[in-house]
Amino acid sequence: MEPHVLEKYKSHAGAASFNVKYEREWHKRVSTRWEYGVIAACFRIAGPQETILDLPSGCGRLFGAYRAYGKKFYAMDVSHEMLKFARENFPELKESLSVGSAFQMPLRDGAVDCAFSARLFHHVPDPREREQYIRELCRVSRKWVVFTYFHTWSLKNILRMMRRPFNRKKKKVTMTTAELRELARKIGWEVAASIPLSRLASGHHYAVLRKC
Ligand SMILES: C[S@@+](CC[C@H](N)C(=O)[O-])C[C@H]1O[C@@H](n2cnc3c(N)ncnc32)[C@H](O)[C@@H]1O
Repeated sequence: MEPHVLEKYKSHAGAASFNVKYEREWHKRVSTRWEYGVIAACFRIAGPQETILDLPSGCGRLFGAYRAYGKKFYAMDVSHEMLKFARENFPELKESLSVGSAFQMPLRDGAVDCAFSARLFHHVPDPREREQYIRELCRVSRKWVVFTYFHTWSLKNILRMMRRPFNRKKKKVTMTTAELRELARKIGWEVAASIPLSRLASGHHYAVLRKC
């Protein structure tokens, strides 16, 4: 993640702003409701889980989307400030919250049944770190990984690439499904599904990976 973005998430003001961002803006409220539906679709594929790890959990925005599919939860984030809001929002999660890095998860191999991770991949510009992140998700999970990535061939990204010569916006961090399949294969996993959050309004995909 770019240092200035990480600093924002680690600061009290940045975490406080993220905590209400998805309620404050009407289109974010709509997209979160939609996102809950896509996450439910992922867990219908993976089925009910004993233990689910959410990393990075942020303020716990998506806890309500997967809580029906697990019995025990662990929520981690690199930002203390984000975790403070998660604790306030979900006092029942208090015991399961801790600080942890997505690139070096403080968990043993196969510690959970499912590792869940939303909206970090597109913040990681270094390809080696992105691979390390996916490897870590697969290492700590016994069977399933559900995570988001920004799809190279999403309408959002195609339009962004077409506009780039004119507005000079920087390239998004993206991946194709084929690239994900190849990485998963290399580490003994397979892609069970890759579900777009929205074909028109978002480039994010939810990938469901299964251990072979
Ligand atoms: C866009 S937010 C997503 C939070 C949550 N998954 C959601 O969708 O609401 C990105 C989060 O990643 C966390 N983060 C950034 N770098 C991280 C790292 N290396 N390890 C763990 N968490 C990290 C930030 O603190 C922030 O909470």
